[in-house]
This record gives sequence, C-alpha cells and structure tokens, in this order.
Amino acid sequence: MTNKRGRPLCAGFLPVFGAFAIGLGGIAADAQADEVNVYTTRQPDLIQPLFDAFTEETGIAVNALFGGEELVERIRAEGANSPADLLVTVDIGTLQRAIDAGISQPVTHAPVLERVPEHLRDADGNWVGLSARARIVIAARERVEQDTITYEELADPEWRGRICTRPGQHNYNIALFASMIAHHGEDYAEEWLAGLRDNLAMNPSGNDRGQARNIHAGACDIAIMNTYYMGLMETNEEEPEQQEWAAGLKLLFPNGEDRGTHVNVSGVILARHAPNEEAAVQLIEFLTSDQAQAIYAEINHEYPVVEGVPVSDTVAAWGELRVDELPLSTIAENRATASELVDKVGYEDGPRS
Ligand SMILES: [Fe+2]
Repeated sequence: MTNKRGRPLCAGFLPVFGAFAIGLGGIAADAQADEVNVYTTRQPDLIQPLFDAFTEETGIAVNALFGGEELVERIRAEGANSPADLLVTVDIGTLQRAIDAGISQPVTHAPVLERVPEHLRDADGNWVGLSARARIVIAARERVEQDTITYEELADPEWRGRICTRPGQHNYNIALFASMIAHHGEDYAEEWLAGLRDNLAMNPSGNDRGQARNIHAGACDIAIMNTYYMGLMETNEEEPEQQEWAAGLKLLFPNGEDRGTHVNVSGVILARHAPNEEAAVQLIEFLTSDQAQAIYAEINHEYPVVEGVPVSDTVAAWGELRVDELPLSTIAENRATASELVDKVGYEDGPRS
C-alpha cells in the first residue's frame, strides 16, 4: 500500500493527526494539500472504490473514518479543530440533522451545482445528493395481481393484514410519510397512516430486506423497500436465499403514473471547518463525475443523480423510474410532524383491529 491509497482514519489516528497539523506548521500545510478526511456512515465496500478511484486520478489520499450517525455529533463536538473535511452519509434526515448541528458550509462550486438537479440538493448548497434511491413496493408475484400501485392505496381495506414494513420511525419511512404530509396535508396523512397501520400483517420490525423474507415466508403480500436492496438481493452470490426471495417478488414503482415515486438520497456535506477545503471540493466534484456516478450505479444499484449516467443492468430491468420531484428540503421540513404522527397513530404497535 502506498500513501496514495485511501486508508482508514481510525479513532486512534485522530489525535496524532491533530498534533501533526499543529506541530509541523508549514510542512503540514503541504501535506494537507494531498489529502482529504472523510467521515462516513456508508459501508466501506461501497464507498472505498470511489475514494480509490479519486486517489488514482488526483494523487490525493482519502482518509476515511467509518461510523454511524454519531459522526454528526462528533464533528460538532470537535468544533473548529475537527479534521473532518466531508461527511458522506445517507438520507435527508441525517443530512438535515447535520445542518441543524451547524457543521456544514455551502458548496458553491459551479461544476457540482450544474450536475446535480435542484431537487436533489439543498438550495443553499449545505448538502449535495450523490446517489438516489426510490422507496418502492415489492409484492408477492403469486399473490398480487396488480402491476401498478400508489402510496395512497396502501391504506385501502383490500390490503388488510397483508403489508409488512420496518418500524415507522426509521428515517426511510419518516421521509416517505413526510412526503405524504407535503402532498396531502397533515389530516389526510394521519388518516392514511392509521389505515396503513391497520393493514400491517404484524408489528413493524426488522430492516427492508427482512420484509422480503417475510413475503417469501408468506407472512405478508406486499412491503415497502428501497430499490438498492432489491438489486443487492437479486445479485447476492454469497447468500443465495436472498436471490430466492427476490425471484418471488415483483417491483412496483408507486405513483409511477401520476406524481412519481418518492426518492431519497445519499449525500455529502462540506464541513464548516474543513482543513482541506480545496481537496474536499475536488472530491465532491469527482463524486458527481460520470465515472463515480457509474460506480454508485454498478456497486450498490443506486440511481445516479447526474443525468445521462446509466443505471446497472439489474436496475434497468425493473423499467422506468418516474421521480417525485418534491424537493427533499420540503420533506425535511415535514419530518418532525411525520414522526409525531407515527407516535400518535401508534404505528409501531401494529394494527388496531
Ligand atoms: Fe439502507
């Protein structure tokens, strides 16, 4: 391994990094030009190939610190001394939390803004979407006849006892519920959510892929899932049973015939105190390049945010995604209400009747 390869930035490395930067003055400034520090909640398998490609192209090393959502609080706590240049994470909920924590600064670099559509980035540039995922409905091929569906229909009595979802308070569901509030208002959304709750086959639990397993086991007929999980199941050589679950499913893009399907993003935040700002912006630009967008598409079966970059063959086989272009910032504004509604209707306790 040369120092041009991305290397993990482990917890123990951080104080050393700080001492190095402070202690060596001018030398540190030179060293800083050749590296960028990324805090990320994304899986190493997915994101490391992107960092490696960036390093190969630019000679700039990427030091990655992998962790969970606590990274937001960590950057906030580190304050002006934070070595973080970028936070790369998923979901508008986490991105918004980071902005609310005051750890971002606007990305104003024109080449980035030109490539990412407006509804997939913050109006002020405080977050920029890097890949998109649709929240779809999966259905048992053998038990569900229809090939189209709307989110609204999920509350219809015909689905009583037939739906599985992960917990309502999960970020992915909160964003979907927030989109329902934005489109229909709070009163409608509450009634809808209570209807969905009563259609659940069991108390919401597990993750998205767990719902596919539930359908395979016959516990329910339809479920809500992010698209990339379907891609990862279909192509999962290590766990062939997941290929089996996927084989029994069909994929429906809700509201594909009207306003479009709800999408969420993975995205990046430029840290407010980024010590290597120039290199960090260069990495953001790289992540929106055709090359990097194609890696997102191939490795994780996500949708590129940049127009004209093809999806993977697996994703292409599902047919056309029509995107609900409701700005994610509007969804962010409705997240708190969505979370309150989940509690109010007792979503996590499952069906009332
Ligand atoms: Fe996920």
